[in-house]
Amino acid sequence: MRVVRQTSLLCIICIFALLLSGATASTQRSDIEKRVDALLAKMTLEEKLGQLQQLDGEGDGKYRPEHLELVRKGLLGSTLNVRGAKATNELQKVAVEQSRLKIPLIFGFDVIHGYRTIFPVPLGEAASWDPSAVERAAGIAAAESRASGVHWTFAPMVDIARDARWGRIVEGSGEDPYLGSVMARARVRGFQGTDYSKPDKVVACAKHWVAYGAAEAGRDYNTTDVSERTLREIYFPPFKAAVDAGVGTLMSSFNDLNGVPATGNRFTLTQVLRDEWKFDGFVVTDYTAVMELMNHRLAATEAEAAQYALNAGADMEMVSRFYNKHGSELLRAGKVTQQTIDEAVRRILRIKLRLGLFDRPYTDEAREQAVVLNAANVAAAREIAARSLVLLKNERGILPLNKSVGSIAVIGPLADDPKAMLGPWSGDGKPSDAVTLLAGIREKVPGAKILYSKGVAIEGRGVTGNFDATPAVAESAARSATAATGPNSIEEAVNAARQADVAIVAVGETADMSGEAASRTSLDLPGRQMELIQAIHALGKPYVVVLMNGRPLTINWLAENSPAILETWFAGTQAGPAIADVLFGDVNPGGKLPVTFPRTVGQVPIYYNHKSTGRPPTDQKWTSKYLDVPVTPLYPFGYGLSYTQFKVGRPELSATSIPANGQIIVSVELENTGQRTGDEVVQLYVRDEASSVTRPVKELKGFQRITLGPGEKRRVQFTLTPEHLGFYNREMRFVVEPGEFKVMVGSSSEDVQEARFQVVAR
Ligand code: NOJ
Repeated sequence: MRVVRQTSLLCIICIFALLLSGATASTQRSDIEKRVDALLAKMTLEEKLGQLQQLDGEGDGKYRPEHLELVRKGLLGSTLNVRGAKATNELQKVAVEQSRLKIPLIFGFDVIHGYRTIFPVPLGEAASWDPSAVERAAGIAAAESRASGVHWTFAPMVDIARDARWGRIVEGSGEDPYLGSVMARARVRGFQGTDYSKPDKVVACAKHWVAYGAAEAGRDYNTTDVSERTLREIYFPPFKAAVDAGVGTLMSSFNDLNGVPATGNRFTLTQVLRDEWKFDGFVVTDYTAVMELMNHRLAATEAEAAQYALNAGADMEMVSRFYNKHGSELLRAGKVTQQTIDEAVRRILRIKLRLGLFDRPYTDEAREQAVVLNAANVAAAREIAARSLVLLKNERGILPLNKSVGSIAVIGPLADDPKAMLGPWSGDGKPSDAVTLLAGIREKVPGAKILYSKGVAIEGRGVTGNFDATPAVAESAARSATAATGPNSIEEAVNAARQADVAIVAVGETADMSGEAASRTSLDLPGRQMELIQAIHALGKPYVVVLMNGRPLTINWLAENSPAILETWFAGTQAGPAIADVLFGDVNPGGKLPVTFPRTVGQVPIYYNHKSTGRPPTDQKWTSKYLDVPVTPLYPFGYGLSYTQFKVGRPELSATSIPANGQIIVSVELENTGQRTGDEVVQLYVRDEASSVTRPVKELKGFQRITLGPGEKRRVQFTLTPEHLGFYNREMRFVVEPGEFKVMVGSSSEDVQEARFQVVAR
């Protein structure tokens, strides 16, 4: 009785506190709106257009001399790439002490997977299937950024990517809208917290709005043509998740979308974002994207480019200056309204106020010193990196390696390349902070004899032929590449391996072979790396392949022949120690692929949540398949091994039928049947058996990464709600249709057990 009374008292206090905090938040919001109105009333048109302008720094975190004058006159609202407490404070001082209205600048920067302490590339972080780890990494990145004067990160990048040729696949969470949405939420929470005016938070920017990842032929910046259905079902969800998590800004993308480039697209920028989703932050364009409306041949003139982007709902112009140059003439000609300009300014000022910049415009240099790359951040980078690694193969338990091993050959072009550890978009990260695999192994097994040989270099950009030239020219280019590497280096590597008990071979891509403007037509290991591995393999001694790369690679030979393969992506500042932790068994790998690994680039786009087709592939001739390669991937979405074994039981359902607005609980027993403590990611997929619009063969709708000791069992539960079972019908309304549903639970998208239930009409 007493307990009940205490509990209800506690509930009342909680409800009161919630109401109070809700009331405080809404008072704060209305205060902010009042301050925005008051400022707007005082601003000249030039000052308003100034707020819509963002310009790039000079390199190395510096502002450009011309910024000082623009800021003083109120003609610049934001910069990108200017960073560091000293530089940002200097420029901010001009804004808040010398400009007429004292409106602070907002400093933006690409803090994609860390500011100075670098975490795994986002594709790698997604491979952790651990949103709490991802949130923690974003939280640390935010603290380091804000301490360095950066208020705004151009992240999370939430583009769905089904084409591994596209270099920017590395910046996102892979191919799946559900996993992508979970990761989007985690990153927004990590960057912004519940209040991004705090000294350790920044405002986030979900990008690139939208469908940028659908670039035709995987070629960056290329055209996209995507149905509204696919936009809503595949490309929109991670953005919606970010908006629901309170993301303050979005970035419009470069691509032409169904004939209207995304930076001038009113359907996506206003109808969906503002009208449907009620987003009240601002949209920044991508770099010179307003100007590029002329290259797209949407706009005939600079003024038209500005007109289309402004009227579509792009609020801040990055780098090109057409809003500023043509804003007043457009207003006079009635092509843009005062209200449109005011609304864009309002959204920007709102975010500056929410950031607390008017009250605390500066950062503290001592704080920067204390926060950036501190020991706790570096330790977190090591833990999170280890969680992102995916064990693809481990024949006869060659891994983990024994720490009492006498000698190890550490081989490969990436074994001691600190730049590659950081990967693309590495913020303010410095290769000199990064610990390579070679250094990580030396530190882990100080007693072992280490023989290091690079073997081969990764030449150029992974070009395997010279496609502008005749075959003869291509051959001579290949010969000179060999000469540069040195003809004997493979031999040297083989010698090292011959003398060692075991070899660890680090191969993959250089950091600049993925990321922006880094698309490839081949997914093979570039250069002569396969030759290197095959030469080591020929020795017949145990070896482990450690992959470092920003996209799925076609590694059929390795999958068939090499004893062990560990996918490490680009694991960040602490890549070396984290990989060594896993190689030597201090950490049991538990990551899973967030993206399908094809057998050949010819299968691309290949993704697990495809449709059925009228002729699903079988052995029969007239079915949907290839003559030369199976339709199946090399490694499926959700795949990854552990040093222990898990048994995922049959799914049990809380009901055999539910109404369309009902929910159902799915539970399975997970058991660690092996000898070590380890992690399994239990994955839940759903399939609507027949519906008025065709649905994918399966769709991820839940997952949990769970740690169990040897012999330990746990029941894992998921709740499926209408949100998980519904889809957009022929009228584009989100509905759950009556009929049969299949539930699949298991350890990858291909390794599942099934159960069925009915959705019944009332
Ligand atoms: C262009 C890229 O597409 C975008 O992702 C990035 O945020 C901006 N440049 C700013 O660096």
